[in-house]
Amino acid sequence: MGKVVTSLVYIRVGRSADTLIVGQRRPFVSWQLQSSDSNVLQEAYEVQVASTAEFDCNFVTSGIVQSSSVIQAQWPGTSLKSREVRYVRVKAFVNGDWTSWSAVKRVEAGLLAGKDWRAIPIGMPNDPGIDEIAPAPVFRKEFILDSSATQSRLYVSSQGIFSVTINDQPVTDELFNPGWTSYKKRIAYRTYDVSSLLRTGPNAISIVVGDGWFRGQLTWALYRKVFGDHVSALAQMEITTTSGKKVEVITDKNWKVSTCELRAADIYDGVLVDFNKEQIGYQASGFDDSSWVNAEEIEGNFASLFPMTSPPIRVTASISPISHTEDSSGSTIYDFGQNLAGHLRMKIKGKRGDRVTLRHAEVLKDGQLNRALLRRAKAEDIFVLSDERELEITPNFTFHGFRYAEIDTNAEIIDVVAEVVHSDMPRIGNFECSNTMLNKLHSNTLWSQRANFISVPTDCPQRDERLGWTGDAQAFASTASTIYDCEGFLASWMLDLALDQLPDGAVCNYVPYVPAASDFDSPRDFAGGRAGWGDAATIVPWALYEAYGDKETLRDQYDSMVRWVEYLESKSDATDLIPPGEFQFGDWLDPDAPANKPWLAKCDSAYITNAFFAYSARLLGQSAAVLGKEADHQYYMELADRVSASTWKKWQLEIPTTATGCATAIELEIAPESERASIAKSLAKLVDSVNGRISTGFLGTPLVMPALSRYGHFDAAYKLLLNEEVPGWLYQIKRGATSMWERWDALLPDGEIQQGDLDGSSNTMVSFNHYAYGAVTVWMYRNIAGISPMIERPGYEEILFAPNPHPSLTWARASVETRFGLASIEWKEYEGGYKADIEIPAGSIGWFVAPSSSDERIRMGSGSHTVEFK
Ligand code: BGC
Repeated sequence: MGKVVTSLVYIRVGRSADTLIVGQRRPFVSWQLQSSDSNVLQEAYEVQVASTAEFDCNFVTSGIVQSSSVIQAQWPGTSLKSREVRYVRVKAFVNGDWTSWSAVKRVEAGLLAGKDWRAIPIGMPNDPGIDEIAPAPVFRKEFILDSSATQSRLYVSSQGIFSVTINDQPVTDELFNPGWTSYKKRIAYRTYDVSSLLRTGPNAISIVVGDGWFRGQLTWALYRKVFGDHVSALAQMEITTTSGKKVEVITDKNWKVSTCELRAADIYDGVLVDFNKEQIGYQASGFDDSSWVNAEEIEGNFASLFPMTSPPIRVTASISPISHTEDSSGSTIYDFGQNLAGHLRMKIKGKRGDRVTLRHAEVLKDGQLNRALLRRAKAEDIFVLSDERELEITPNFTFHGFRYAEIDTNAEIIDVVAEVVHSDMPRIGNFECSNTMLNKLHSNTLWSQRANFISVPTDCPQRDERLGWTGDAQAFASTASTIYDCEGFLASWMLDLALDQLPDGAVCNYVPYVPAASDFDSPRDFAGGRAGWGDAATIVPWALYEAYGDKETLRDQYDSMVRWVEYLESKSDATDLIPPGEFQFGDWLDPDAPANKPWLAKCDSAYITNAFFAYSARLLGQSAAVLGKEADHQYYMELADRVSASTWKKWQLEIPTTATGCATAIELEIAPESERASIAKSLAKLVDSVNGRISTGFLGTPLVMPALSRYGHFDAAYKLLLNEEVPGWLYQIKRGATSMWERWDALLPDGEIQQGDLDGSSNTMVSFNHYAYGAVTVWMYRNIAGISPMIERPGYEEILFAPNPHPSLTWARASVETRFGLASIEWKEYEGGYKADIEIPAGSIGWFVAPSSSDERIRMGSGSHTVEFK
């Protein structure tokens, strides 16, 4: 018997936001090796599944599978049925020896078929919310248990967003459930074990439903009822008691409905809470609800309910103000020192009739909140007090993007904090170096990710927009997936991207799709099909594949990718090029474009359109190869080559004249390989000629740094990164930014706020919380600290360690909690050169490349290493 030093930890089955259930019939199985040994490599594995934890019933095995991967192994055996419980264990053949079996993982299937739902969606009869923002319906139901619960599941969803209590206790600390999806096509549900909340005798369940994204205002046109007129609740509680009884509590017309203190709730506008309308005790049993009416059974479109796979939204931090100033009018403005998305939580004490009004803004103007930048979003929460109780108040069903908040009240403010709200993804990436401005840049990117990863990846969290703009998301996907584990979050959004694709394959400009505002001349331009935006269809799944080895998303999205590329193909002419004509966002917000016409970038948008066409075809071709689709691989790689060749032929003289032209020609593989080094040289010259000032917009910015470093132009790359003049990343830091800005010069050098007028239509477009330009952050991990996943073995199965210190930096470190475990590098100056400490997780391989010897790769097995380099 050999010595077993390696064990398996962290078995993950399927993709689910619920720890209780999985939503796939054949969920994949992933694990991690843990070892005190070095050079640990997996050669094979076995996955076993059974219906008992002893593995003695309905036993199935994968058999011995030769593979070095610990990611997404196939489910052995038969598909799961709804509610079915299975047990899973894994062992691995590692360095010539089998590990012992992993701990056993219990897997329970959720409600997988529509027919599993006996609950009926319920709404409020004559709901005034159909015509205008109105009080939120509150549903309640009492039920009796003859003994305590041994097992319970609450499956719950809504059209709108819900909060649910049992016996006066919140069932969860999660917010904004069931999240935002393309509701007409699919709606998530959540599953909870509620046994500890239940008791023998009478029990009460209550559900409040807010308009949320379902019925609340959306887009700059403030459309309501985009997904339906009626908000509704859907709940099915399945309980087994100690006496062996099975009890089912489902929503139906026997539930009672009324309204309480929540008089209005809208994501953009905020809430109105009037405590004079409180119905104290309704969340508990024994409440007299005789004045309430019976709920109305609604024909809800819950046809495709699925267990949520995007991580739930929560309060993840609480921030105290760093200062406050009293205004001449008597209100107080608090500065939280950090631009964030979330809400205030306050302790107050006043008297009946006192109003507490909270207003929010990202920046001040002349000492006052600058609310003009919110456009038509009111971002105002109002509370009306009913007595002298000390109260803790916080709004529900809304969030605001702000650093400053104004509180206007006669009541006494005992305490106030800002609570940070976002999809609660695991944090996996850390970066730090000796330059504090770069650390701030990392922090600002992180904060913009937090503020904009609220159920879907949005452009901004504050104004009347907050939409899942595809262009922004593709630009940021790689960075996002390095800082946080976004697999579940982005994979879920991608399903909606596919569902919302227009009949001709065009990808919508924002997902979930909201029909275009009628005040635009060409609604089609605002529906979809735009270059660099629609390409999220191919770029985001590829980013997930690179970061997490996530083949499942490539598989799920494959048809959508094909449809997108076929759409582009259908637009192309005999020369394989898409002719100009349609509106394009292009290199949006190029700093040299007129501030009111952000689409008029230096780089020809007809070129960009074709460059992204070629790139999407190439990513599709590569995805086909990963999935073993040989014929598709051939076809799409050839298509990519043809489109690239024609694009090069037509624009080769123009390409080297702009940074975005150069960056796209290199990174999107438009220029022939033999030309790319010379284009990189032109790019470095362009950077030099403007002294490192940035000259790219949304599409060029993520590519410009990689294009420079790929050909060794680190001087130019650092010049660009470290430039502190406008426009530049560190300019924002110098101006006190605490998050990424939408425009390079959102704050002008004279301290004024950029007008941001779109085409003189007083449609101000200046956000201080847009993540697109934060796309540079992944470059800092990969090139400053020097840690990258390698696409040949994605998910950090092979890791490139390639630090490239700038002379001004004395140390840097980065770590990523990868699918294989923690990978890290930390280097510092050492005896005229540098010394790096490297950690490689079990099962992975590292390759070290010193800056001076880019051709020589040193292979490193798992474990700890120290290298010296020049
Ligand atoms: C959004 C963007 C988006 C753009 C598209 C803006 O209003 O905030 O970030 O990508 O429109 O043109």
